[in-house]
Amino acid sequence: MKLLKPIDITPDEMGEDIAKIIPGTEPPLHVSNTAPPVSRIPIHQDSDSPRIIPVCEPTLTGKEKDYLMECIDTNWISSAGRFITEFENAFANKCHCQHGIACSNGTVAIHLALAALGIGAGDEVIIPTFTMIATINAVAYTGATPVLVDSEPKTWNMDINQVADKISSKTKVIIPVHTYGHAVDMDPLMELADKHGICVIEDAAEAHGGEYKNRRVGSLGHGATFSFYANKNITTGEGGMVTTNHAELAKLCRNLRDHAFSEERHFWHKYLGYNYRMTNLQAAVGLAQTEALDDMVAARRRNAKLYTDMLADVAGIITPPEAHYCKNTYWMYGVLVNDEFGMSRDELRRFLASEGIETRTFFIPMHFQPIYYQAFKGQRYHVAENLCRRGFYYPSASSLTQNEIRYITSATKRASAINP
Ligand SMILES: Cc1ncc(COP(=O)(O)O)c(C=O)c1O
Repeated sequence: MKLLKPIDITPDEMGEDIAKIIPGTEPPLHVSNTAPPVSRIPIHQDSDSPRIIPVCEPTLTGKEKDYLMECIDTNWISSAGRFITEFENAFANKCHCQHGIACSNGTVAIHLALAALGIGAGDEVIIPTFTMIATINAVAYTGATPVLVDSEPKTWNMDINQVADKISSKTKVIIPVHTYGHAVDMDPLMELADKHGICVIEDAAEAHGGEYKNRRVGSLGHGATFSFYANKNITTGEGGMVTTNHAELAKLCRNLRDHAFSEERHFWHKYLGYNYRMTNLQAAVGLAQTEALDDMVAARRRNAKLYTDMLADVAGIITPPEAHYCKNTYWMYGVLVNDEFGMSRDELRRFLASEGIETRTFFIPMHFQPIYYQAFKGQRYHVAENLCRRGFYYPSASSLTQNEIRYITSATKRASAINP
């Protein structure tokens, strides 16, 4: 059998300067005797045993179980049932949107929106290079060409001025990503897009409940997409949604999600459709989570403030941005480690891992991904590269306690006192 081969290029083969930017291998994570005991429902650890503080975990403390039991009791476990519609309506409502189309995950939500817009080979879609791989993959699935832009240093989001430079006659869509919960400066972006007749689909996978100038993320572009993966501010285990105020776009997304079954007769298909449906079980969890969304965002914002206050006097740690126009949801509490800190980002992560604290490096930009390396060879995006080299995020779950944040920040301070 002949199988697909990976693109097996190493950071070193990309060049010495690029190898320095790409994070080292993951540090081994140790359980800690000194980490604060788990105050929430312990999932896989006894409450008083040594533990690790995970980088993220879901918070399932609402009506998830009741709603799930209703699915089982009533036999509605597949992709029809009351929770699908109720979750779509409740979540769309939270986004100040008229329509929500639930689907299997955040990646296919992007693909669904692009497919409904008829994007395909020969079209160009502008995206930030500093994003998670799903954004670019969804573009690649359509056959369109992804065009990259750098981040702005102030917010870590895509640089709108660079978007203007990358627009061509082939540009059909721009996908701004609200990175780590910080809304993109959407007004100038929409003005630019409208001037050129280009569609804007927000990739809001990381920004549920976020705000831009008192407007909700998810309602700021022509459409938006969300992920409900387990580490997101609210989760359905796996899941996604397209939100929009455009009735025609919503209708087509709904149809394409379900194999594009035709209204006139069954098993009759006029579009290339997909099975991107969500189950009633997932939507049951999603509805309960949506009911708790405001609390989850408030918890993440409270935790972010605690982190920022406790890290304020640590030289060389740059805490995350919040521009005046936005209410950051701090999906992940990310920081940059500058030279003044005294040890590198990777060394600090190793130290934290030895104390039972799990962290994650920031995204590796798309132009350095082995799978896209040839397509963007020679292109450089210095802000994204600096974020990749220096950035990591701390444990960020909504359920994180004040004691845990104190433990994590004091470990950071101890690390800063060590000269490696
Ligand atoms: C910016 C961004 N877009 C898309 C996705 C894809 O979502 P999913 O994992 O649900 O497919 C993610 C996932 O974390 C993401 O961070």
